[in-house]
Amino acid sequence: MKTIFFSGKGGVGKSTLASAVAWQLMEAGNRVLAVSFDPAHNLGDIFHTKLSHRKKRFKKTNLFLQETDLEQSANEYIEANMSLLNEVYSYMQPFNMDSYFNVLKYSPGVEEYAAITAMEKLFREEQENYDYIVIDTPPTGLTLRILALPKITVAWIDRLVKLRKQILEKRYTIHKLSGKYSEKGTKLAYEESEDTVMRKLLDMRERYQNVQNWLAGDKNSICVVFNPDYLSLRESQRLMTGVKDLNLPMHTVYHNKLDDPNSDIAQKVEQELLKGRPDVVVERVPNMAEPEPTCYIMDKNLIQSFQENT
Ligand SMILES: Nc1ncnc2c1ncn2[C@@H]1O[C@H](COP(=O)(O)OP(=O)(O)OP(=O)(O)O)[C@@H](O)[C@H]1O
Ligand SMILES: [Mg+2]
Repeated sequence: MKTIFFSGKGGVGKSTLASAVAWQLMEAGNRVLAVSFDPAHNLGDIFHTKLSHRKKRFKKTNLFLQETDLEQSANEYIEANMSLLNEVYSYMQPFNMDSYFNVLKYSPGVEEYAAITAMEKLFREEQENYDYIVIDTPPTGLTLRILALPKITVAWIDRLVKLRKQILEKRYTIHKLSGKYSEKGTKLAYEESEDTVMRKLLDMRERYQNVQNWLAGDKNSICVVFNPDYLSLRESQRLMTGVKDLNLPMHTVYHNKLDDPNSDIAQKVEQELLKGRPDVVVERVPNMAEPEPTCYIMDKNLIQSFQENT
């Protein structure tokens, strides 16, 4: 399975091109899942069909569509973590964590964590089922934060693991000295293999490390979509810098909504964006005359360079 992310400034054509690429990959004989991680979904509108959190087969083809419900994912994420906390710290019942539940969903970062958790689950569960997963993402800032999370999380978990080891060592010492190793009737472990917190931490670490390996690996591709204008150029430059900082693979950019590829502005934007990046392939996509460009009748081949490059 390969994954392709469509990223870029708001309104440049991420959803349209993600849909077109998904459609063309399916037409080329692949099993494809197109999934939106943008809270403001458009996939359903583009394919003229109602979509939900559950994937839906599109017109008996090998193309499947899904719009991730990030609010639901965020609630699931918080609930899972609350019950984990309650389970692990059952001896701390006076500290009533339920009251935090409603507030936590407004906490900064929850949407990003919900997105990356849903993505990790998707990659893990669907690996065998698809040749490609095409991902429509929210505009630049949120996408970069989501893509940065696995690496940041692994670094944090490593620190927590270190702290946990120190706690377990202290417990062991106290147990040796006093013979006491329970709290309010709950037996407290001091062996790493018996400690629930340590096991959960290591399990989380493995999952985030896997998703990080996937994102940075050669089966993944981050595509940047931009338009022939300076605002789009500036934001795409920031996006490409972010993708480079995160060491993620990026070899195709889509210059979308081109009236004339030879116009001054189109050439300047392209030259500036690709300065120092001869490795990147540019796919030029015309500005279509139709009032509603339906992705799956777009006649330009958008997947050739992509298939060659990944
Ligand atoms: N090549 C094209 N020619 C003409 N119109 C296009 C083209 N690509 C996209 N559009 C139109 O531009 C608008 C924005 O496209 P789209 O929704 O795909 O962008 P987006 O980057 O996903 O936006 P958002 O950031 O809001 O998710 C839509 O009206 C779409 O039909
Ligand atoms: Mg979109």
